[in-house]
Amino acid sequence: MNIIHTQSGDQSARVTAGLLLDALKAKPDLLMGLATGGSAEGVYKEMVSAHRAGQADFSQARTVNLDEYIGCDDEHSYRRFMEDHLFSHVNLPKENITIADRTADPDAEAARLRAFFAENRVDIQLLGLGPNGHVGFNEPADALCPDVHAETLTEATIAANARYFASPDDVPRRAVTMGMGDILKARRIVLIVTGPAKRAALAQLLAGDTVTTQNPGTFLLLHPDVTLVTDLT
Ligand code: GLP
Repeated sequence: MNIIHTQSGDQSARVTAGLLLDALKAKPDLLMGLATGGSAEGVYKEMVSAHRAGQADFSQARTVNLDEYIGCDDEHSYRRFMEDHLFSHVNLPKENITIADRTADPDAEAARLRAFFAENRVDIQLLGLGPNGHVGFNEPADALCPDVHAETLTEATIAANARYFASPDDVPRRAVTMGMGDILKARRIVLIVTGPAKRAALAQLLAGDTVTTQNPGTFLLLHPDVTLVTDLT
């Protein structure tokens, strides 16, 4: 694993955006796997700035999102997050965007996305890490699902994501997520981890000697091209 140590969350976002934008320059029709959450938000801010400065062209780019809540309202959906923080600010063609439909039957959505991944390989996958080690919405459990599937969220994740909702009761209990197998098939992975809440989950990944379904982030040890960008030491 390549590790880039930074001094702050903002610097992590700049460095991570730089890696994604360099990949886009090298391959204009890049398929980017995208994440949501606070860490990703800073990355997209940098990407939008680069686009406005004429330094990033998304006209041939393609994107697929890691996950989406099931039965969520539009305002709190990851689709809305992506529109607000990236899609509506750059020249990415709408038809090049793939994300689960929060209103559709989750099993049908999982099947649609499994078909997508059978045909398409992600060139560069942006990932965050949940405080409990979740990646996408692959939650710590006795077993993990390799392919796109519907997942029931843990209490820890509901608590971590409650800041986006009026109350924890409003956080959707289920989501459609890429599986760990889909994630590990990406050609390249960029993992951004900032803030002390992630310290314990990251420590096990940095230790490098254990892969456990109880900390899905440790599965990244199985991938040959992961860059970790972190302000944690
Ligand atoms: C959500 C997303 C994850 C993301 C995580 C971390 O749970 N489903 O894909 O990695 O949040 O988000 P943050 O960067 O806000 O800590």
